[in-house]
This record gives sequence, structure tokens and C-alpha cells, in this order.
Amino acid sequence: MAPDSSREWEIAGGDGRTCTITVGRGIAGIEHLITRNWPQIAILTQPTVSAMAQDIATKTLARLQVRAPIRVLPDEEGAKILSVVGDTYEWLNSIGFARDGLIVAVGGGALTDVAGFVAATYLRGVEIAYLPTTLLGAVDASIGGKTGVNVDGKNLVGVFRHPGRVVVDLDILDELPPSLLRAGSAEVVKAGFISAVDIIDAYETDGLDVSLDRVVPAAIDVKVKTVIADFREADLRAILNYGHTIGHGIEVAASIPHGHAVAIGMVAAGRIAQEALGFAGSERQRKVLEGIGLPTTSPRVDVAQVRRLMDRDKKRDGAGLRMVLLEDFGHPVVRHVEEDLIRLGLAEIGLVTG
Ligand SMILES: NC(=O)c1ccc[n+]([C@@H]2O[C@H](COP(=O)([O-])OP(=O)(O)OC[C@H]3O[C@@H](n4cnc5c(N)ncnc54)[C@H](O)[C@@H]3O)[C@@H](O)[C@H]2O)c1
Ligand SMILES: [Zn+2]
Repeated sequence: MAPDSSREWEIAGGDGRTCTITVGRGIAGIEHLITRNWPQIAILTQPTVSAMAQDIATKTLARLQVRAPIRVLPDEEGAKILSVVGDTYEWLNSIGFARDGLIVAVGGGALTDVAGFVAATYLRGVEIAYLPTTLLGAVDASIGGKTGVNVDGKNLVGVFRHPGRVVVDLDILDELPPSLLRAGSAEVVKAGFISAVDIIDAYETDGLDVSLDRVVPAAIDVKVKTVIADFREADLRAILNYGHTIGHGIEVAASIPHGHAVAIGMVAAGRIAQEALGFAGSERQRKVLEGIGLPTTSPRVDVAQVRRLMDRDKKRDGAGLRMVLLEDFGHPVVRHVEEDLIRLGLAEIGLVTG
């Protein structure tokens, strides 16, 4: 029998609202998502999961006698643009959506990012509940209150605002195709490397067949605790960016999925930490990532471009590049990293600087 994975967290929003995050099985039914009689409900979703949204609308009508119109936004990053935000405001206005209504967002991280931004800004803020349908969405994008859209291809515009509820139903995540499971697992195992070392053990034993009941609540817990300690990303929240400094450069330069790039970035950071801090886990880290089927070396890319993208990374300050490094699993630190160490890290993932 699967272990009981039901857990709940509460995060004070700082704006008088509270974010309740529930994880469990078979909880995507509306009773967790829509916990009271809202006078109005509108659903925002993605093409791949619009049937799930339709099911929620049907149940909402049957049980609460409230019609819940559905708006299907473009897929993936196609939703995270200002013109879609504008169209969605107009749609909400056209259905007479008022301040006391609830938006329900059903989809992956791209969908919840844009829906959260719409909810934060429409009529200066309406309530929203998220039903994340990807692993990355469940453990990362839907938790922590960062919402926004891309400008110039980057998450440049947004606001910090928690949703009122997040419902993570592991039954949905069980049905994900392996490619989405793998990409999301990079962020799950990252939570293991920086904090919850049990997650590493779980992936080490089972690879991509890992029990979601075991690792998803643990990864959410890491994100929740980090966000509670540091909502607006002053310093502590930066540990969530482990593997992202070099990873982000490769993601953009090579156009590969975010999770793959983070895996490669963690391998490079592991080598740097080995040299700079005596980190002894870099080989173990690589094996765990390989066991999940994530890449551990970079595809061919323009290394100079990766370097330029890293320099633009927001953790850079006057004194050079700052990166999250591990002293040991579960012990992250943020450190300035000198050029020769960066070269060493890049060489580890097959990138030779000129
Ligand atoms: N707000 C944050 O703190 C935060 C953190 C990390 C990532 N993000 C954002 O999250 C996004 C990436 O998340 P993502 O990978 O979930 O992206 P996504 O929303 O683009 O989903 C990836 C793909 O999976 C499909 N999909 C969704 N649910 C599915 C299901 N149940 N079965 C099959 N296919 C399904 C989607 O339609 C899409 O094609 C990026 O935009 C990133 O910037 C935000
Ligand atoms: Zn990430």
C-alpha cells in the first residue's frame, strides 16, 4: 500500500490572505479546490488538461449550482505573454466576473504563473486556487507566490502573491508522460540535494519509478519552509536556485527543457563545490541524476553565450558571480565563484571555454 501522503501547509500571504497547500490522492474533486460557496467561478486552463477543467466545471454546477465558464489559454510559454493577460481580463469582464469571484487555474507551471498574475491584478486582486497538473508545477511553480509573464522571453514582469489554495493530487501526477516526470524530477531531487536528503535515497533506489507519495510532499515541504523564511527572495530563497546559474545559461543557449538544464547545472555546481568546499557528493549526485534519465553533460552550445547569460544572472553582484554550492547534501551556501572555478565546472559538463 502506498504510504499516506496527505499533508497540508499554510503560508501567511502577508496581505491578510492565507495560502493553504494540500497534497494527497483523489483530492482534485472540487471540495478541496472550492471550499465555500463562491458566487462566481471562472476556470483558466491549458489545452492538454481542458477535460480536467471541464470535469471541475460540471461538478461545480451539479454540487454548488454555480456555472463555471472555462477559458483555454495557449499551451506552454504561449500563455505567458501580456497579450494573453489582456485577452483574459477582457474575457473575465465579458462574463461579468466580479471581485468576490474565484478563479480556478488548472494546468502546469506556465498556466498557473499567468493565471496567478491575472488574479493578482484583475480588479486589483481576486481570489485564485491552483490545481497543478505537472510535477514541476506541483513542487515548484505553484508554491511560493511568484506569478508573472515573459517579456523578451524572460520572466521579467510579475508580482509576488500567493494563491488562496493549492491542491496537489498525486493521482494526476501518476498519469504524466515520462518526459514530464523526468523534467519535474530535476526540481524534486534538487530539493533533496539542498535540504531533504531522504529524497536522494528514494531516487537512488528507484530512479524515475520513485514513489511520488514519498518525494512530492518532501519537496513541497522544502519549498514551503524556504518561502516562509524568505518570501521576496532576499537570500535564503536563493538556495532554491541550486543548479540554475549555469543551468539557465544552457537552457537558453541550447533550448533544452528547464529540468534538463538544471540537472546539468547541478553537476557543474557539484564539481565547483568539490574544489571550493571539499563537497564529497558530486559523484553520487551525478549517478542519481543519471538514474532518473536526466542529462549530466551539456549539448553543444556557444560557451561564450552561456557565460554571458550567467553574468546576467541576478545573483551576480559587484564582486563577481555568486552561486549556490553544497558543503554537503542538505547544507547549501551562497558563494562568490572565481573564474577558474567556473571554467572547472563548465569543463565537467563538457564545455570548454576559450
Ligand atoms: N512561479 C514560480 O515560482 C515558478 C517556478 C518554476 C517554474 N515556473 C514556470 O513554470 C513553467 C514550467 O512549468 P511546466 O513544465 O509545468 O510548464 P507547462 O505549464 O508549459 O507544462 C508543460 C506541458 O505539459 C502539459 N501538461 C500539463 N499538465 C499535463 C498533464 N497532466 N498531462 C500531460 N501533459 C500535461 C502542458 O500542456 C504543457 O504542454 C515555466 O513557465 C516556468 O517559468 C514558475
Ligand atoms: Zn527551476
